[in-house]
Amino acid sequence: MSKIKVGVLGAGTMGAGIAQVAAQSGHKVVLVDMNEKVIESAKEKLRKIIERLIEKGKWTEDFGNEVFGRIKFSTIMQDFTGSGLIIEAIVENIEVKHAVFEKLESIVDENCILASNTSSLSIAAIGAVLKNPSRVIGIHFFNPAPLMPLVEIIPAVQTSEIVTKEAKLIIDSWDKVTVLAKDTPGFIVNRVARPFYGEALRIYEEGIADFATIDWAMTTLGGFRMGPFTLMDYIGNDINYTVTESVFKAFYYDPRYKPSFTQKRHAEAGYLGRKSGRGYFDYSENAVQQSPNKDEELGKKILTRILVMLINEAADALFLNVATKEGIDLAMTKGVNYPKGLLIWADEFGIKNVLNELTNLFEEYGEDRYRPSPMLKRMVREGKNFF
Ligand SMILES: NC(=O)c1ccc[n+]([C@@H]2O[C@H](COP(=O)([O-])OP(=O)(O)OC[C@H]3O[C@@H](n4cnc5c(N)ncnc54)[C@H](O)[C@@H]3O)[C@@H](O)[C@H]2O)c1
Repeated sequence: MSKIKVGVLGAGTMGAGIAQVAAQSGHKVVLVDMNEKVIESAKEKLRKIIERLIEKGKWTEDFGNEVFGRIKFSTIMQDFTGSGLIIEAIVENIEVKHAVFEKLESIVDENCILASNTSSLSIAAIGAVLKNPSRVIGIHFFNPAPLMPLVEIIPAVQTSEIVTKEAKLIIDSWDKVTVLAKDTPGFIVNRVARPFYGEALRIYEEGIADFATIDWAMTTLGGFRMGPFTLMDYIGNDINYTVTESVFKAFYYDPRYKPSFTQKRHAEAGYLGRKSGRGYFDYSENAVQQSPNKDEELGKKILTRILVMLINEAADALFLNVATKEGIDLAMTKGVNYPKGLLIWADEFGIKNVLNELTNLFEEYGEDRYRPSPMLKRMVREGKNFF
């Protein structure tokens, strides 16, 4: 069976990576960006990536040339004609996305799937402008797309079952781990991961520990690859703050997702993280590194507090059928490299212990942010585990 032609719109951080993944998997790809310079630079970058893969012996020269030759770099959307799937990865703005989805529908034929890589907009809202909205779907890659195995597949209320099935089959064939997620704010990963940042910031704000100590607790005691502050500096405080704020607003200001002033001030000050040379940590050449307070008891307290908040979020996502329990655990391990799925971790920690920790926080602070998910209460009552 010949492979469908794949169109990718937007050749920025995400689009260029998605085009590479599709071409590696044998598809003819058209990568379109309205900006000539962006498309030229995407072409150059991909050429360099392929050269490096060949140098390292990961790809043969023939394979590299084939992959490169499969991608057409263009500034004209009309080149999408004949595609079976288009993945949009342009600016995160609903008006702009509406305009391009309307245009896309006029270019491709009836059975072309129209997907968005949006992180924060609703797929239902994006598809609303289509004459045939049953073909819209969310296909959400993680950065960098060629390296991160997870892809969230998000059918909207309008999406047909056939389109969901086909989209999943195509992305599975790209050697990705796909997880179905409900069309709700943040889908799985960007929702469940919020406390990793938010609770760490809160612990800092209360003066319980500094950035380096919190990062030490989460990496050395928790097994996370990066501590929350190192990770926020890596993502960029401006970007991470914006995601938190958009999830918070999308959840009708649920205090669970409340953004942090500390992060806002860092972003406002231009302390964006690695990209600006300074965030929570200093990345300049001769910077003196902060050293953590390696007090085990304090470290365990920090880890436990952030972990139970993460588990609560995962349990609540399951409670509200955002995804299956397997899907939620896969999403966190394959999308953001968590050392363990949060629900299996909950089983190991003991559901009763998780609930106790959360109940203590809730009583201590009296804030809705700490309310335990009904899922956990029910499980403790019934003596159940997730797995
Ligand atoms: N950056 C991430 O980590 C990440 C992760 C997952 C999903 N996303 C989502 O992917 C999408 C793209 O994000 P990004 O970080 O790659 O953005 P980016 O700014 O790097 O790239 C966007 C590109 O789209 C182009 N563009 C804008 N409007 C266009 C139009 N009308 N027609 C053609 N091209 C147009 C721009 O020229 C730019 O090159 C967003 O919806 C974002 O929410 C981003």
